[in-house]
Amino acid sequence: MSKLTLDDIDVRGKRVLIRVDFNVPLDTSADGSPTVADDTRIRAALPTIRHVLDHGGKAILISHLGRPGGQPVPDLSLTCVADHLGSLLDERVRFSSNTVGDTVEEVVAAMGNGSVILLENTRFDPGEKANDEEFSRALAALADVYVNDAFGAAHRAHASTAGVAQFVDTAAMGRLMESEIAALTKVRDDPEHPMIAVLGGAKVSDKLGTFRALNDTADDLLVGGAMSYTFLKALGHEVGASRVEDDRLDAAESLYEEAGGHIHLPSDHVDAASPDADAEGSVVEGDIPEDLMGLDIGPATLAEYQDLISGAATIVWNGPMGVFEVEQFASGTMGIAEAVADATANGAFSVVGGGDSVSALNRSGHSDDISHVSTGGGAMLTFLEGAPLPGIDALTDA
Ligand code: 3PG
Repeated sequence: MSKLTLDDIDVRGKRVLIRVDFNVPLDTSADGSPTVADDTRIRAALPTIRHVLDHGGKAILISHLGRPGGQPVPDLSLTCVADHLGSLLDERVRFSSNTVGDTVEEVVAAMGNGSVILLENTRFDPGEKANDEEFSRALAALADVYVNDAFGAAHRAHASTAGVAQFVDTAAMGRLMESEIAALTKVRDDPEHPMIAVLGGAKVSDKLGTFRALNDTADDLLVGGAMSYTFLKALGHEVGASRVEDDRLDAAESLYEEAGGHIHLPSDHVDAASPDADAEGSVVEGDIPEDLMGLDIGPATLAEYQDLISGAATIVWNGPMGVFEVEQFASGTMGIAEAVADATANGAFSVVGGGDSVSALNRSGHSDDISHVSTGGGAMLTFLEGAPLPGIDALTDA
């Protein structure tokens, strides 16, 4: 079912409540104040915000940041994000330390057309995650129109992502939401073959549904990261001190069997006694010795994966191949980034998502060489599984 978009609504003079996903990693600056460490998600929301401002709307932005547990946590304030957004927009972005209530309503009522305000972290209120009706109504009281552009949080049925939509007349998708849905629908429902899925990260338990769904559509699934050791152990290999989900061995074995040879696992690894930067890494083929842990895919595995990626027409990548934050365990992940970028340059359609993969991609310098970089981690996997996304379902049908 298609949903209303910005093209269907007139925002001039209206209070447009825009749910964005500004759940971004923070850093601490020299003076101890927090700063935005990676602004991919903020930049991704700019087309929607600019549309509203350029068309004479009043942009009222709401987002969560982190998991404060329903109470104010100063370190998770969106204040620094308002400053960062202001510099990207080259506009004054006002900030409200209240998310709902009379004071915010008054400030919003006084806004001029084409102005923008960011409200404090929605998760400082326990009503957000509870999808509480009172909190949803209080958010709706700020809006003539609601726009959801927070694809990254669309798998959450929270007050600001879903509940609020019931209490406004018009609830539309933003530009980012539209582009995410278009790219992910293409790979989920109508991919060109050969299609390669690259899945990494720590836990196979987070991606069981994704594996099942991609087993049906992808021609090959290339596995890396700690989750590969759960598969390898399940298949009877020695994995030494590698991170393993022992309660998922049966699930991993059945997935591998169901895939009938389409799941590829690492044949060699970069191992060390610990993931620390000063640990001594070595390449080990096959089984991993007792005192070592696998921390990256090895060169033979990377070459095999790169070869498969180079022949793909569609590529989906979620999750790093190893502890890429540490130089000596980064080659696998960087090598995949390069291969996906090269294949894209040769005409493949590529989608990369998940916080770690996107930060690895940024680090590799290849972010602009990918067809679609998704701002969703869990939301992207949920979409690919074909499971419902409350943040999209709640919007007004077109
Ligand atoms: C994300 O980073 O995946 C989204 O912002 C959702 O955050 P959450 O997992 O804390 O709900």
